Amino acid sequence: MLFWRVKQLDEILATAERKSLTRTLGAFQLTMLGIGAIIGTGIFVLTAEAATKAGPAMMISFVIAATVCGLAALCYSEMASMVPVSGSAYTYSYATMGELVAWVVGWALVLEYAIAAAAVSVGWSGYMVALIREIFGTTLPQELAHGPFDRTPGIINLPAMLIALVVMLLLIRGTKESARFNSFLVVIKVAALFLFIALAIPAMTAENFQPFMPNGFFAKTVVDPISNNMVTVGVAAAAASIFFAYVGFDAVSTAAEETINPQRNIPIGLIGSLAFCTIIYILVAAGATGAVGAQPGGELARSSEALAYVLREIGHGWAGKLVAIAAGIALPSVILMMIFGQTRIFFTMSRDGLLPGVFSKLHPKYGTPHVVTICTGLFVALFAALFPVGQLADISNSGTLFAFALVAISVMVLRRTQPNRTRHFRTPFVWLTAPVAAAGCVFLFFQLSGYTELMFLAWALIGLVVYFFYGYRKSHVANPHLAGND
Ligand code: ALA
Repeated sequence: MLFWRVKQLDEILATAERKSLTRTLGAFQLTMLGIGAIIGTGIFVLTAEAATKAGPAMMISFVIAATVCGLAALCYSEMASMVPVSGSAYTYSYATMGELVAWVVGWALVLEYAIAAAAVSVGWSGYMVALIREIFGTTLPQELAHGPFDRTPGIINLPAMLIALVVMLLLIRGTKESARFNSFLVVIKVAALFLFIALAIPAMTAENFQPFMPNGFFAKTVVDPISNNMVTVGVAAAAASIFFAYVGFDAVSTAAEETINPQRNIPIGLIGSLAFCTIIYILVAAGATGAVGAQPGGELARSSEALAYVLREIGHGWAGKLVAIAAGIALPSVILMMIFGQTRIFFTMSRDGLLPGVFSKLHPKYGTPHVVTICTGLFVALFAALFPVGQLADISNSGTLFAFALVAISVMVLRRTQPNRTRHFRTPFVWLTAPVAAAGCVFLFFQLSGYTELMFLAWALIGLVVYFFYGYRKSHVANPHLAGND
């Protein structure tokens, strides 16, 4: 009963043709979009969180998270090159495991994209507030710089809310302009990370790696030496959190319908951007740890602008400022990709009848799905205004891990059910890669805090209620006569 209403692949491709978006993106632009979505709050801000959880062994956490993402990217590439339509994991599940599973995946992707956009907005706000203080000597009142659930609570995170709204307006204007703007920002943040690596690596000392693994490997709950709250720590727990730093490569696949020659360009964009970022991250993590140490409760763990802190500590205050400015200018490109991905998923769900038709309406002048962009932007701004970055990132990860696992399973299902369909990209060693990718996602999910897992469950339950009251009845698969009418 769970696997009802499987949507035929040919039908998915035909629907995409009927209500399609304009194809403007090539391989280079896609890779840039991928890097734009990947490098962000994860490396610039959450490196401190990883130090709190893992200590110097956070480098291992970075490698674990990268491995799981790499395996998932290989699965995504096969699916995206086979089903080059908007909707990503949601669409793939529709074609393999049916409507109910697809709906739950689509609903989980709201966590991945929209909540991630909120997390990055909050990370950006942290850097901006510090920058304004350093450059202009003005401190934004605590009440307006932090949400009510922060370690240092305020009333509303105003800068985070505003940046989410600005990005929303930009996206309503159109993808092409947004993509060009994105490439410019990518160059800035990659340059900032190169500068960091060039200065931090020579300052590394062996003592800073001792003790290497103060919190052990598997997740366990202890009292946070900084806030005195209970926190989940360990190398694997840090991997589950820092996983956030890699999320975003899959957003490339949500742009499938706006891509020229997607069968070739999507795998290049996905794997290329992830590989590039993985190398940079490992160097940054090694540099940060080796240069100043990364003990739980230490200065790095306390910092809300981790990379700038490291550079100041090793005597390059000017570079710290430059990195902070780069983060301030460039993190919005991540928010942009996340909101972009979210709108394309809602767009596809609406086109399938699972969400109201107004969500797939295009703007008469700009040709963008403006209604869904506005709804998403407001949702992101609300969460950014209220919640702290670490919590948002972990909740986002729970949705992402779920979606990644389902994509890995979908690849295997389609290899069995439709072995003869053309695959422009084939996942190498699929019977090893896909099961290990799915198992890795499940493992990391259970390394997240109990609170995060509970939030995920609550969100899934709300989703099921919405499905049975709306999508179940309005679905175009169940009501073929409705397809194409709205
Ligand atoms: N990977 C993205 C970031 O770290 C979401 O900001």
